[in-house]
Amino acid sequence: MADAANPAPLLADALTRIQADVDDAFDALLPLPGDARERLIAAMRYAAIGGGKRLRPLLVTAVAGMFGVDRSVAVRVGAAIEAIHVYSLIHDDLPCMDDDALRHGKPTLHLAFDEATAVLAGDALHDFAFEVLSDPSLIGDPFTRIELVRTLALASGSGGMAGGQMMDIVAETSSFDLPTVTRLQQLKTGALLAAAVEMGAILGKLSPEGRTHLRGYARDVGLAFQIVDDLLDVEGDEAAAGKALRKDERAGKETFVSLLGVVRAREQARFLVDQAIEHLAPYGEEADLLRALARFVVERDR
Ligand code: IPE
Ligand code: IPE
Ligand code: MG
Ligand code: MG
Ligand code: MG
Repeated sequence: MADAANPAPLLADALTRIQADVDDAFDALLPLPGDARERLIAAMRYAAIGGGKRLRPLLVTAVAGMFGVDRSVAVRVGAAIEAIHVYSLIHDDLPCMDDDALRHGKPTLHLAFDEATAVLAGDALHDFAFEVLSDPSLIGDPFTRIELVRTLALASGSGGMAGGQMMDIVAETSSFDLPTVTRLQQLKTGALLAAAVEMGAILGKLSPEGRTHLRGYARDVGLAFQIVDDLLDVEGDEAAAGKALRKDERAGKETFVSLLGVVRAREQARFLVDQAIEHLAPYGEEADLLRALARFVVERDR
């Protein structure tokens, strides 16, 4: 086993590296066109470059790395998922949704540009993801390519992130029970995190049966991640988070914290992370980064 007592440097290095690599990928893939579309691409770059933790790309590269996949390919696939994530945040922050002014420590896109540009930049980042994944020069094998495309499409649409966002809005005016809030969170946040793990495994050529343990890990990490996002909304520091907090209660939103209270929600997040790590028991030190990432999910302050 690797240095289990001291996993933090392993993760810190991996985060620094993936943040730089994803920035470089967006920079290379989104050149300014020098024509009347300039404002759209500038807006996409504003939202996509710099800022985020890049947890989804890190999940892709961490899983792909366990199976010897070329890092540069995994980074591009990670950038594709991150493009969906960034688009979801741009739209999430719009006045018609959460109406937020701060994201990643800077003004949200619709304030830095305007609402129409923010809608279009979100749309175009969504399509960008599938442009990247369907590029035969990135992944030669057409079966792998289509499996990646389909996995990301399913995780993003009405059976994934967008469906979860709809439930999240309905949650403001309904009293959801715990199973319904769990379902909401699995779609809103869990689906894209799970897709990141799945796509790492697809790149690694694992059979669907061979992905069972990783899927268990992803499910538990995804749920723990959203519980902590809800906890940060109540207890977090806005400067560290780089976004407005204390919004869920004001919006009358049913979350894990509103249903369980702060103490039990944190217990549940810790329990889920322990369980996520147990799913990795068949793997040795090659999964240490995934273990460290799971712990980070509950310890993070942003
Ligand atoms: C925040 O996600 C929005 C949710 C899906 C809960 P992240 O915490 O991963 O966002 P980044 O790191 O700021 O991009
Ligand atoms: C946003 O959830 C989730 C997606 C964009 C899919 P939140 O609204 O809770 O995210 P934050 O708190 O604004 O980052
Ligand atoms: Mg929201
Ligand atoms: Mg929001
Ligand atoms: Mg939130």
